[in-house]
Amino acid sequence: MTFQWTENMAVGVELMDEQHKELFTRVNAFVEAVLQNKESVIVEELMKYLESYVETHFTLEETYMKDYDYDEEDTDIHLKQHKTFRTNFQRLKTEYQRKGSNKELNQKIQEHLCNWLITHVSKIDKKLGDYL
Ligand SMILES: [Fe+2]
Repeated sequence: MTFQWTENMAVGVELMDEQHKELFTRVNAFVEAVLQNKESVIVEELMKYLESYVETHFTLEETYMKDYDYDEEDTDIHLKQHKTFRTNFQRLKTEYQRKGSNKELNQKIQEHLCNWLITHVSKIDKKLGDYL
């Protein structure tokens, strides 16, 4: 499965879309590297990127929701999803720091971070983009 950003994932907010495209490029590079058993080179890079992504990108969306009076229930759902990602990320980061790159961890990264992000972008972020 390749992770390609496509026009139908556009949320229509330039800054958000730019950051999502970058995200897809990084995630795709990671998944490709796993397929070629070269992930040890890239997993460190991906974790560092995702950590800064969480800070800048989630904060950007959360600021938009607040500043533009986004629906309370939708905000709640969105924030909960961000929280889940942050928790999963911290857990996997700790695991990575303890054990280094390995097959089982790579699978969890793909499932809990990569797949999660793609679903989040195409559903939850898109809904926010439609509102903005
Ligand atoms: Fe989001």
